[in-house]
Amino acid sequence: MLLITGGAGYIGNHACIELLNTGYELVVIDNFSNSKVEALTRVQEITGKKFKVYNASLLNSDILEKVFSENHIDGVMHFAGLKSVGESVKLPLDYYHNNITGTISLCMTMQKYGVKKLVFSSSATVYGVPEWVPIQEDFPLRATNPYGRTKQMTEEILADLCQSDEDWSIAALRYFNPIGSHPSGRIGEDPNGIPNNLIPYITQVAIGRIDELKVLGHDYPTQDGTGVRDYIHIEDLAKGHVKAIEKVISTNGFHTYNLGTGRGYSVLEIVNVFEKISGKKIKYSLIDRRPGDIAVCYADPSKANRELNWVAEKGIEEMCSDAWRWQLNNPNGYEEVSEPMAMGINS
Ligand code: UFG
Repeated sequence: MLLITGGAGYIGNHACIELLNTGYELVVIDNFSNSKVEALTRVQEITGKKFKVYNASLLNSDILEKVFSENHIDGVMHFAGLKSVGESVKLPLDYYHNNITGTISLCMTMQKYGVKKLVFSSSATVYGVPEWVPIQEDFPLRATNPYGRTKQMTEEILADLCQSDEDWSIAALRYFNPIGSHPSGRIGEDPNGIPNNLIPYITQVAIGRIDELKVLGHDYPTQDGTGVRDYIHIEDLAKGHVKAIEKVISTNGFHTYNLGTGRGYSVLEIVNVFEKISGKKIKYSLIDRRPGDIAVCYADPSKANRELNWVAEKGIEEMCSDAWRWQLNNPNGYEEVSEPMAMGINS
C-alpha cells in the first residue's frame, strides 16, 4: 500500500488514477489548503476504486503516526506542498515551514515505521537559470526564489538521508511544465483566484472568465520573443511516477529524474495551438517580462527514458484539448459537492 501526500492536488490526483489503475492500494493525506475533496471523489468515480483519506497537514505528527499505525504502508509518494513562486517571495517562512519541515516530519515518521521508499515531487525550478538547454540532471542546482529553494533543499536533505542509511531509496522527480487533464474531463487544474500559469490562464480567457491573456515578455532571445517551456501532459507525468515507484521499490539510494518531453514551445505557439483545437480566438497583449522568468527551459529526459523505461507520449495538441475539455465541462472548477463524511475522511 502506498501513502500519497497531497493526493487531492492537480498532480497528486492524476498520479492516484495511474497508481490505482496499475493495481496499487492507496491511502491519501491532504489538508485541502489548495485543493478540494471533490477531486478525490472523482478519482474514485473514474477508477471505481476506494481509498482512505486523512484530512491533515504533514506538520501534524500525531496524525502521521495514526496514518502509519492504522495502515500497512510500503512506500510514499510525496506531493504535498505550497507551490506559488510569487507567494513564496512574500511568505518565505510559510514555504520553508510547510515544504521542508513537513517533509522532515514525514520522513521521521517513515523512519520510525521502517518505511524507506519515497518518490518526491521536485521541479525543474531547482536549475534556476540554466547555462544551456536541454537541461540534464547533473546541471548545478541554483534555485532563484524561496519556493524553488524549498525543492532544492528538500532534495539535499533526502540525498543526505540516503547517504546516512543505505536502506533508504528515494527518487526526486523534476517536473517541467505539466498541463492538460485526464481525458474524461472530470479532473483537472483548479487554481484559486487568477491563475499564475499559462494554460489555466488561456482556458479561462477562452471561456470568458478573463478578458485577455497578458504575454509576459516579448523580447526574450527566442524565435518570437516569448518564453519557451517544455510542456508535458499530466498523464505522461503521472505514468512517470508509476515507473519511479517501481524503481524505488527495487533499488536503493538517491536518484533524480527530469520529467519533460525534451521539446520547447513559445507562448505564442501555445496560443496558436489552443486557438486551433478550441476554435476560440485568444485575445492577448504583449507586456513586460515577469521578474524571475527565464527565456528558455526544456529537459533532456534521456535519463528517465533509460533508467525508468519512461517516455512522454502525448503531443501538444492533445495537451491543449484535454485542458480545454476540463475547463468546458467545469467552468468554475470543482464545486464543493461532496461532504467530507461521505468520503469517509479521517482526521
Ligand atoms: N506566461 C504568460 N502569461 C501568463 C502566464 C505565463 O505569458 O499569464 C508565460 C511565462 O512567461 C512563461 C510561460 O508562459 O514563459 C509559462 O509560464 P508558467 O507560469 O505556466 O510556468 P513557469 O515555467 O513560469 O513555471 C513553472 C511552474 C513553477 C516552476 C517553474 C520552473 O509553474 O512552479 O515552472 O520549473 F517553478
